[in-house]
Amino acid sequence: MTKESIIDFYKEVDTETLIVEAAKVCQKVHGNGVWLRGLIEFSNYCAQDCLYCGIRRSNNKVTRYRLNEKEILETVKSGYQQGLRSFVLQSGEDPCFQASVLAGIVEKIRNGFPNAAIVLSCGVKTEEEYRLLKKAGADRYLLRFETSDPALHAKLRGGIPLERRLKALSDLKEADYQVGSGYMVGLPGETEKIRIQNALLCAKLELDMAGIGPFIPNPDTPLNEAKQEDIILTIRATALLRLLMPKTHIPATTAAGSLDKFGREKMILAGANVLMPNITPIAYRKHYLLYPGKICIEESGEQCLGCLALRMKSIGREIQSGRGDALAL
Ligand code: 5AD
Ligand code: FES
Repeated sequence: MTKESIIDFYKEVDTETLIVEAAKVCQKVHGNGVWLRGLIEFSNYCAQDCLYCGIRRSNNKVTRYRLNEKEILETVKSGYQQGLRSFVLQSGEDPCFQASVLAGIVEKIRNGFPNAAIVLSCGVKTEEEYRLLKKAGADRYLLRFETSDPALHAKLRGGIPLERRLKALSDLKEADYQVGSGYMVGLPGETEKIRIQNALLCAKLELDMAGIGPFIPNPDTPLNEAKQEDIILTIRATALLRLLMPKTHIPATTAAGSLDKFGREKMILAGANVLMPNITPIAYRKHYLLYPGKICIEESGEQCLGCLALRMKSIGREIQSGRGDALAL
């Protein structure tokens, strides 16, 4: 199917039919296996002030924290011992974790765990910084474009142009990373047309990984009175992405699991093939609240892994161990 015919199909059919087609594609390319990425939220300091985000600079209700190098390495070690082979180091845009500092940490992980994938998710950096981190041993980088609509993007992100983010994504590709991006679904001001453009932009960027989740209004942000859109929009977006990008890794996100008890299962059934258990040390988790109602705040990494295994079994899927690298597009 061409992109145009997929969009027509998406517009015409009911959600049930859309999901069935996406699930077929997912089954054919990815089978029953679901990959895991252990998420380490290592700093909630952020220089940016995005209107939707709970750890935005202006939110002075947040207790700020940073994990030190030792804590990060111990968290990776404990995840590794539980079988994880892919680790996402995520933070706000924290000036204290300059690329040179981060590179030192990446190098230690690289040497200590040679067969684990190292994924960074630390915002926009310069081309040189991305190269430095790649050289230190990082394999992948996640940087959502958040919305493909330039006006909405600038409005929600303190005037920063969408173009800057797209430049960063192209720099990452140039530096030879496996690149992930994506967007939130149901932002205020978003239209169905924008939602379709969001998915098409993911396809155009030829992403190795595409991460999406529902926007959940945060009471401590300027978008506190925004409407909560139904999870169904995220499920439809998942199916559309899977049809447009059969090989791309698509996570069933924590935001979906937070908005709907079975949000992650629903995303998997609509075409997602990755889960991202949170393995941040428990003491810090409650301070990394991008949105309210976030799940897995009190559970240990082990508990979440057990929970996810059961959840996958209940829908006929199975967690597989390994790095889960990008498939050649
Ligand atoms: N609701 C849902 N997702 C959010 N993110 C930030 N704030 C929110 C929110 N209020 C997402 C952004 C960011 C990712 C780490 O979390 O897409 O890139
Ligand atoms: Fe964390 Fe279920 S995945 S409690």
